[in-house]
Amino acid sequence: MHIIAAQDLAEKAFLSVEVLLKRGSLRPRKLNVIVFRFNGEVYAYVNHCMHMHRPLNCSEDAIFDANLQYLRCSMHGFLFEPESGTCISPVCEGQKLQAFKVVEEAGKLVFKEKSLQVLKVSLPGQELI
Ligand code: FES
Repeated sequence: MHIIAAQDLAEKAFLSVEVLLKRGSLRPRKLNVIVFRFNGEVYAYVNHCMHMHRPLNCSEDAIFDANLQYLRCSMHGFLFEPESGTCISPVCEGQKLQAFKVVEEAGKLVFKEKSLQVLKVSLPGQELI
């Protein structure tokens, strides 16, 4: 499912994407997904820190640490590897953010998840769809 034009997502920028997840006979669930570009590749994770169940950008409108090397939860500062979503901070070390497959196709960012419906797309401070 199409998200936005690929050129609109700059390196280390992120999108906040509201999706509806419909899997099998389970009741559809609304989720917030962060979509970002890191070293040229695009990644998507459910915006849910497993530590205390908060969005990564709950305290600041940012998802990266100061050096732009790791994803960082703004609540208590836990760090995650951008490429895998794996937490590298104590307590949750080794646990992973839930990933969704996203690709660049014909100049667009596209979820490769049939069970996802995109409801809303925002850049920090700017609603796009
Ligand atoms: S809630 Fe994310 S680090 Fe604590």
